Amino acid sequence: MERTLIILKPDAQQRRLTGRILQRFEDKGLTIAGMKLMRISRDLAETHYAPHKGKPFYPGLIDYITSGPVVVLALAGPRCIQIARTLMGQTFGYEATPGTIRGDFGASRSYNLVHGSDSPESAATEMALYFAEGELLEDAPVGSEWVFPSNDD
Ligand code: RTP
Ligand code: MG
Repeated sequence: MERTLIILKPDAQQRRLTGRILQRFEDKGLTIAGMKLMRISRDLAETHYAPHKGKPFYPGLIDYITSGPVVVLALAGPRCIQIARTLMGQTFGYEATPGTIRGDFGASRSYNLVHGSDSPESAATEMALYFAEGELLEDAPVGSEWVFPSNDD
């Protein structure tokens, strides 16, 4: 089963939006396979965002993601990487389409509420940073076949 690594960033927690944002992923039919509340260390943040090292926004990004508690999620489901990115909307809140998470709740370049893996490769790398394999549930909830039919090619 495909999995994606989602982080409900510090602004989601500070603005009491964590539950509402999580609800959107559940409403879509994605399964929670892992979930933890944590404070990301600078070491972990620098590993996670290593692809952005050297960019002008990188120091601010590390400060932001380490600034308070986050909820880290492993979400599962067919095409969940693409589905989550579509639900999130474009990176900058002021450009994101209304109806998306960032489009409805975000207005800035950097405080955009949610992270989602952008490819199968980054999902696998990021998942291993936050979860041990034994922490992730494999079971599909009852009723999953009504969200993801087996003949859905
Ligand atoms: P993410 O990795 O967090 O899911 O976001 P993304 O793919 O949509 O955007 P990405 O290009 O990977 O950027 C990572 C995060 O850095 C912050 N950012 N700030 N001030 C800026 O110009 C700027 N650009 C990016 C955002 O928090 C973005 O989510
Ligand atoms: Mg990204």
